[in-house]
Amino acid sequence: MKILVTGGAGFIGANFVRQTLEMRPAAAVTVLDKLTYAGNLTSLADVADRIDFVTGDVADRDVVDPLVAESDLVVHFAAESHNDNSLEDPTPFVQTNLVGVFQLLEAVRRHKVRYHHISTDEVFGDLALDDPARFTPATPYNPSSPYSATKAGSDLLVRAWVRSFGVAATISNCSNNYGPYQHIEKFIPRQITNLIDGIRPKLYGAGRNVRDWIHVCDHNRAVWAVIEAGRIGETYLIGADGELSNKQVVEMILEEMGWDPHDFDLVADRPGHDLRYGIDAAKLREETGWTPVFSDFRSGLADAIAWYRAHEDWWRPQKQAVEARYASHGQ
Ligand code: NAD
Ligand code: TYD
Repeated sequence: MKILVTGGAGFIGANFVRQTLEMRPAAAVTVLDKLTYAGNLTSLADVADRIDFVTGDVADRDVVDPLVAESDLVVHFAAESHNDNSLEDPTPFVQTNLVGVFQLLEAVRRHKVRYHHISTDEVFGDLALDDPARFTPATPYNPSSPYSATKAGSDLLVRAWVRSFGVAATISNCSNNYGPYQHIEKFIPRQITNLIDGIRPKLYGAGRNVRDWIHVCDHNRAVWAVIEAGRIGETYLIGADGELSNKQVVEMILEEMGWDPHDFDLVADRPGHDLRYGIDAAKLREETGWTPVFSDFRSGLADAIAWYRAHEDWWRPQKQAVEARYASHGQ
C-alpha cells in the first residue's frame, strides 16, 4: 500500500509515520510537508531511510497532483494548528487549512484515491463547564477561532466532495493530543520546557478551561481503526475520556517535575477562549473496536516530561522565539 501522509514532519504526523512503519512494515510511506515553523525534519530522522520525503505545499496543485496520483491512500494532517497564532494572523490558516484541503480533494477525486481527513473537536465550539453533555457526531458546528473555523470549513468541503463527487473519504475529529514531538508553543510542552528553564507555568485566565486529553499514539491508532473499519462518508470523534482543567494539568506537571503545585502564574486570557471540550467516542468504539492504551494521564505525562528532558536539542532552538512572542501578548 502506498500512503501519502501530509504534515508528517509535525507533531501528530511524525508519530503517525513512525507508528505506521512499525505496524505495517510493508507500507510505502511518502511524506509531503512544507516545513513551516512547526515542521521539523529531525522528528523523522530515525526513519528517514524508510520514507520518501517531499518538501512542498498542500495548496500547490502541481505538487499535490502527481503525489496523489501514485498513492492508494492519503492521510491529511498538514495544517496551521495553533489557535493563538490564528488570532495574530489568520492568513496562512485560510490558505493551508481551506485551499490546501480543496487541492487535495480535487486530486483524490481525479485519481480516485481513498482520503482520510484529520480534524479537531474544536469545530463544535465549546461546552459549559457544568454541562454533563459531550460532543457527539450530531453536535452542530460552531467554531470560535480562525483556526477552528478553517478546520470546520475543511470538514464541510470533505462532506461535500463525498456527496457530490463520490470521493471515498472519512473524517476524524480528535480532542487535545499530548506526547513526544509536540511543538513547544502548545500548552503542555510549553510548561514542561519552561520548568526545565526554571520558569513558572503560565495559565491563561483563571486556568478553569477544560481540555479532553488523549495520548498522540492513541489518536493515531484510532485513525488507523477508522481507515480500516470506518464507513465512507462518516465522521468519527476520537477521545479518551481525559477531561481535566488546565489548572489540574499544570499542578500535575509541577508535581511530576518536583515543584510545589502552587508555583504557577495566571496571565492574560486568550480572546474568545473556548471553555470546555469533551468527546463522546461511542461511535468510534462501537464501530471499530478501538480503545485507548494510555488510560493513565499522569503516567503518560511523566513519559512526555522525560521525553522533553531527554530531547533538549530538539526543542531548544525554538524556545527563545516562542517565549518572546507570548511575552508580547502578556502571556
Ligand atoms: P503541527 O503544527 O505540529 O504540524 C503541522 C505540520 O503541517 C507541520 O509539519 C507543518 O510544516 C505542516 N504544514 C503546515 N502547512 C503546510 C502546507 N501548506 N503544506 C504542507 N505542509 C504544511 O500540527 P499537529 O498538532 O501535528 O496537528 C496535525 C493535525 O491534527 C492538524 O490537522 C490539526 O488540526 C489536527 N489536530 C490536532 C490536535 C492537537 O492536539 N495537536 C488535535 C486534534 C486535531
Ligand atoms: P493549546 O495547547 O494551545 O491547545 P487548544 O487551544 O487547541 O486547546 O492550549 C490548551 C489549553 O491551555 C487552552 O485552554 C489554552 C491554555 N493555555 C494556557 O493556559 N497557557 C499557555 O501557555 C498555553 C499555550 C495554553
